[in-house]
Amino acid sequence: MKTIVNVGMVAVWVACLAGRGAFAAPSEMAVERRIDELIARLTLEEKIGQLCQTNGGQSTEAMSMDKSTEVLDPAFLADVRAGKYGSLLGQRGARNYNILQEAAMAGCGIPLLVGHDMIHSCRTCYPIPLALACAFDEELWERIGAAIAIESLTQGCNWTFAPMIDVARDARWGRIAESAGSDPFLTSRFGAAMIRGLQGDDLADGRHIAACAKHYVAYGAPMGGRDYNAVELSDATLRDVYLPPFRAAVAAGVATVMPAFHSYNDVPCSMNKYLLTDILRGEMGFTGMTISDWAAVGELVRHGVATPGADAAAKALNAGMDMEMVTTHFADGLAEAVAKGTVSEATIDAAVRNVLRLKFRLGLFDRPTLDAAAIERTIDFAAHRALAREAAAKSCVLLKNDGVLPLAAPRVALLGDIATNAWQMQGTWSTFDFSNTTNDTLLAGLVADGVDVAYTEAYTLTGRVDCAAIARACAGADVVVACFGDYLEKSGENNASARIELPGEQLKVVDAVKASGKPLVAVVFGGRPLALPELAEKADAIVMAWNPGGAGGWGVADVLTGAAEPYGRLTTDFPHATGECPKFYSRTTTGRPHVPGERWTTRYNDVPFKSVYPFGHGLAYTTFRYANEAVAVEGAMVVFSVDVTNAGRRKGSELVQVYTHDVLARTVRPRRELKGYQRVELAPGETRRVEIRVPVATLGYTVDKIYRVEPGDFEAWIAPDSDSGKRLTFTL
Ligand code: BGC
Repeated sequence: MKTIVNVGMVAVWVACLAGRGAFAAPSEMAVERRIDELIARLTLEEKIGQLCQTNGGQSTEAMSMDKSTEVLDPAFLADVRAGKYGSLLGQRGARNYNILQEAAMAGCGIPLLVGHDMIHSCRTCYPIPLALACAFDEELWERIGAAIAIESLTQGCNWTFAPMIDVARDARWGRIAESAGSDPFLTSRFGAAMIRGLQGDDLADGRHIAACAKHYVAYGAPMGGRDYNAVELSDATLRDVYLPPFRAAVAAGVATVMPAFHSYNDVPCSMNKYLLTDILRGEMGFTGMTISDWAAVGELVRHGVATPGADAAAKALNAGMDMEMVTTHFADGLAEAVAKGTVSEATIDAAVRNVLRLKFRLGLFDRPTLDAAAIERTIDFAAHRALAREAAAKSCVLLKNDGVLPLAAPRVALLGDIATNAWQMQGTWSTFDFSNTTNDTLLAGLVADGVDVAYTEAYTLTGRVDCAAIARACAGADVVVACFGDYLEKSGENNASARIELPGEQLKVVDAVKASGKPLVAVVFGGRPLALPELAEKADAIVMAWNPGGAGGWGVADVLTGAAEPYGRLTTDFPHATGECPKFYSRTTTGRPHVPGERWTTRYNDVPFKSVYPFGHGLAYTTFRYANEAVAVEGAMVVFSVDVTNAGRRKGSELVQVYTHDVLARTVRPRRELKGYQRVELAPGETRRVEIRVPVATLGYTVDKIYRVEPGDFEAWIAPDSDSGKRLTFTL
């Protein structure tokens, strides 16, 4: 087969994924000169200090506490003045930020990076990333990134450890909540959009902060879905599935990258030169800074590949780690490593250079302190809350609807503990100001939308079900809205689950409501896809609400009432049972592809082959018809087009998706891969021709480390989800 697009085209692809050009720092030469001067005058100890990040000097109390009046420990302040740290982890309030920056400037004259995990939340909490991904809306990611950035500055943070761009295909993995789901193309688009929002066009404009692409790389693929576990995958899969979001992040100018905790190819990412230097800097051209994950340099010792101090520090630094988070092996051992010759001072200088470059990009040398009150005055918090409500509504996925939604019935019975629990609307990285959001429940949202609703708790998600209470509640209602799913504490970091079925006795709730004869609307909360085949069978309507954020109860209510049209589409598959995990639509082909009814084709003998709900699935309150699907190769683009008609009686928004499959390749290829999508809003009866242009450069794959697009036949589908659509063909 002749190669028509080679590795050089990857740059084009990356630019397409990122949606904009590389970061252009102002007067780069001048900055490099100032860095040279600084490095020339720093002692080795001061240089090492720049490579150390501490979480010291902050209160160990809850994140939500007001830090504005907290008094810093004088010993900590003295350490900052002595230049022991290049960076601080955690927010200490804007007042302390200024005190600390002044101390740093008074010492070795280098300001501090202050980083914190503003993942989907700062003072305003937005839906978890897995939810937000379902909106298929890059602009929404960008707007939320910008809103988080400006709120972070008011808290004294100039850096966030976001976005998390780990492709996540295993619902057992708790951190799937923090991901954009199972698809590399989507993760690339949304990650780059978030970076644009957080960083803006100019990191030094006083409204933006540095982003961090994490966790580099393939952290979302631990064996068994168990967090921190080793990752085993081919180099080709690494390059075609797990690296693309990082390439897109680098192309979008991401300031920092965080290597992951796990080992890849039996080498922890934190000391994996192949990943950190050869690929990240060599192949991708990353010129920013790397920061270890929490204590990950120290964990090289527990991995059993380094001894503490000089050895662990040398292994991490020599592989390409610039800064150590929390543990102190750089501080304790780097000078010794230089003395022993296991680390060169040039390697230290290169890392320091990366740290200082970021500080210049952020404008910290010219303006180390910030006027939080002035920034605060420019923030429209009501607009941020409206954005959170909009995002929550757009993140909801209408999985099923037998016509009971939007709510039209006069009297609604609302069931389940989570319906009145504002905390549970938040998400795995909810940070501050929870106190402002205690009215953000589903019950409050329904009331605000004018619904005549009567609430009965009747059950908790994991506890006993009071069937008699359910019967009484149903008796007085025309329709029942019941909450299902799992608590937010069950997803997120180190929350792998060996069971993703609905916990507790929730299926009894389904049966109790069904026994009443009243229609059941299930609202499902949680941070991961769940195995809910029984609910899918018995409920009359299902809305996947995820962890919808601080205005989540209101946003979900908007979808239930029809104040907002359903908008979301799944970015993961919903399996029948945990045992299918990892289950994802873009599985590679097998020699025995599944044929329904045939015995010797790939399958499980106890659950259906198709997902309960596939990637891309999501309904509207109207229906759409596709017609006249067509595909044409036009130079460097493949153009897909289709007539989409709103065949119902309500306006609605359809998400048209394009999937392709390379029919004959050198290696097995995914049965389908998402290559493009477009949303179209249609009035009842309206038809519009939708055109989706897919760069030819994105249709390749990697063999022997080389990405190529090859001529030949392709199959394609223009479809509402990853399991349906009319099969088309085209030839490159
Ligand atoms: C997580 C990171 C996070 C870091 C700092 C770690 O445990 O894996 O995602 O950025 O802590 O809070």
